[in-house]
Amino acid sequence: MRPGGALLALLGSLLLLRLLWCSAYAPGRSRILLEESREATHGTPAALRMLRSPATLIPRTTNSTYLNEQSLQLTEKCKNLQADVKSLSKKMKRYSEDDYLQIITNIQRCPWKRQAEEYENFREELASCCDAVQNFVVSQNNTPVGTNMSYEAESKKGILIGEKIFNMLPVSQPFVEYRYNQCAVVGNGGILNNSLCGAEIDKSDFVFRCNLPPTTGNFSKDVGSKTNLVTVNPSIITTKYGNLKEKKAVFLEDIATYGDVFLLLPAFSFRANTGASFKVYYSLKESQSRQKVIFFHPKYLKHLALFWRTKGVTAYRLSSGLMITSVAVELCENVKLYGFWPFSKTVEDTPVSHHYYDNKLPKRGFHEMPKEYSQILQLHVKGILKLQFSKCEIA
Ligand SMILES: *[C@@H]1O[C@H](CO)[C@@H](O)[C@H](O)[C@H]1NC(C)=O
Ligand SMILES: *[C@@H]1O[C@H](CO)[C@@H](O)[C@H](O)[C@H]1NC(C)=O
Ligand SMILES: *[C@@H]1O[C@H](CO)[C@@H](O)[C@H](O)[C@H]1NC(C)=O
Ligand SMILES: *[C@@H]1O[C@H](CO)[C@@H](O)[C@H](O)[C@H]1NC(C)=O
Repeated sequence: MRPGGALLALLGSLLLLRLLWCSAYAPGRSRILLEESREATHGTPAALRMLRSPATLIPRTTNSTYLNEQSLQLTEKCKNLQADVKSLSKKMKRYSEDDYLQIITNIQRCPWKRQAEEYENFREELASCCDAVQNFVVSQNNTPVGTNMSYEAESKKGILIGEKIFNMLPVSQPFVEYRYNQCAVVGNGGILNNSLCGAEIDKSDFVFRCNLPPTTGNFSKDVGSKTNLVTVNPSIITTKYGNLKEKKAVFLEDIATYGDVFLLLPAFSFRANTGASFKVYYSLKESQSRQKVIFFHPKYLKHLALFWRTKGVTAYRLSSGLMITSVAVELCENVKLYGFWPFSKTVEDTPVSHHYYDNKLPKRGFHEMPKEYSQILQLHVKGILKLQFSKCEIA
């Protein structure tokens, strides 16, 4: 086994320490790919015949130009992507970072196309297990007074929803009335540095972010400045914002940069989260802030974890990146992921910092969630969502 494999295995077992990452993903299916390469070959009859019968192996003796030869090989590679990516999530082999990067290099070379049918199927799966449209946040509609709400990760513990908590809740799900067309899920990966993706992200109808990342000043050209929903890890409230005591003003200033935004907190995931989450609610209320606080529904998260478990994601808890990606697929017609990059380097071997806003370089090897990432790559190659791996093209 390569050293990277051992590291990967070790890191895999440490994953539960990283409750919050926002991460990224790949392309289409053979028919479309074939059609695209048909164009690329300018219709050489021999090439066309082969392209029309995907089952035929490409003979090495084909009388094609060098270019045709290349595009045929690419077509083959692209057809195999789904199998390559699927193998990443199998237990048989531990994949190293370099194995992943090789597959991603191939993914990047292949055209991506949204696959409506795959999208609908996947969305139906999610709707029937989890139903984000109805259940993703705690609301007065789905949680009457007197509910004994059990915690997501401490299921033997419950909290009684009395009038006081009930009145903190929105009447119904804030997002049901809309079906957003284009959604961006923005992870915090250092891969966003110098990506110039900001303008594209800001054009989205709805922008999801994780754990209060900076979006102002020099950052906005790469990550955009629009935010509709941002998750808040309660630990950032205690560590960075001193439990909203003396640092409350700093906190309010920081979140004011997002404008009208929903702050999404996992108040009912661990008992230790509840106090900090409620504190955020009351601080915003007292200062009459425009931002609104909503709470992840613990039952939604539980069902979502079970869903991903059936796909092989067995970590103790999902990352918030995968949580909101799942929500986005249910709420949006088109989902694009930015800043999802759990690797220590780019495909060109340049080091990538852990976050776009700090310069902590991770140790070599995967720093996060190989299982989750292979799932996200699968969604990309199936054409269900699109991962942005590199710089954005400026229109
Ligand atoms: C390839 O094409 C050229 C000209 O188009 C032709 O002369 C040659 O016989 C072809 N070779 C094969 C193996 O078909
Ligand atoms: C509330 O639910 C928890 C488990 O979810 C249970 O242990 C507890 O006894 C329940 N409390 C009441 C008052 O029913
Ligand atoms: C933004 O970048 C410029 C040039 O790279 C630098 O001079 C400036 O200090 C940066 N501003 C901030 C707020 O980081
Ligand atoms: C990304 O940007 C951050 C903040 O400007 C910086 O600290 C970090 O070193 C950069 N990382 C890389 C890999 O360039």
